[in-house]
Amino acid sequence: MRPRIKKCMSYQEYIKARPVGPLRNSIHKIISLLLHFVLFWRIRVLLYRLMGMRIIGLPYIGRECFLDPEFPELITIEDGATISSRVIIATHDSSRDLVAPVTIKTKAFVGTGAIILPGVTVGEKSVVGAGSVVTRDVGPGDVVAGNPARFVKKVEGRVKWYREGV
Ligand SMILES: CC(C)(COP(=O)(O)OP(=O)(O)OC[C@H]1O[C@@H](n2cnc3c(N)ncnc32)[C@H](O)[C@@H]1OP(=O)(O)O)[C@@H](O)C(=O)NCCC(=O)NCCS
Repeated sequence: MRPRIKKCMSYQEYIKARPVGPLRNSIHKIISLLLHFVLFWRIRVLLYRLMGMRIIGLPYIGRECFLDPEFPELITIEDGATISSRVIIATHDSSRDLVAPVTIKTKAFVGTGAIILPGVTVGEKSVVGAGSVVTRDVGPGDVVAGNPARFVKKVEGRVKWYREGV
């Protein structure tokens, strides 16, 4: 059973309450390293699941991502979401002594090189622009971009058509 944590919790408190021991933690980090060499995305998804990430259905996860190997159990990626290559998802922040879950909702698209910070939910069918730094929740169907990521527009046209898979 994974720990249910509040939106944001002290790093130190979470470490104490966490059921994952140091050995398992080290195994997660080794898997995380190996993931950089895995060419097939379905195998990457499987390995992220093995690391304890909450993966619902079949999202796409690109190459050379850094999905917080320290606390992978705090990441949820839902069905049909796209995590492009070189995306970083952080679920902890030692500078603020906090851990917080990150959720990428159904059919959301996270552009290449984006950084998602702890506590963020990327809404259903939303789009995060390449290289954006996402510090706040992204609303469903929103396009956000930049550092810090700001609302640009609603998903529309070809992007909407593609994300809705019709
Ligand atoms: C976010 C994105 C989908 C928007 O594309 P679009 O709908 O064609 O939007 P536009 O190009 O009209 O941009 C709208 C505004 O957002 C800005 N913008 C777009 N993408 C941006 C980005 N990644 N970072 C910062 N600003 C961005 C544009 O400069 C423009 O600003 P302006 O109105 O002040 O000129 C696209 O730019 C993007 O980043 N796609 C991801 C590509 C990617 O990751 N590919 C690899 C995996 S497939």
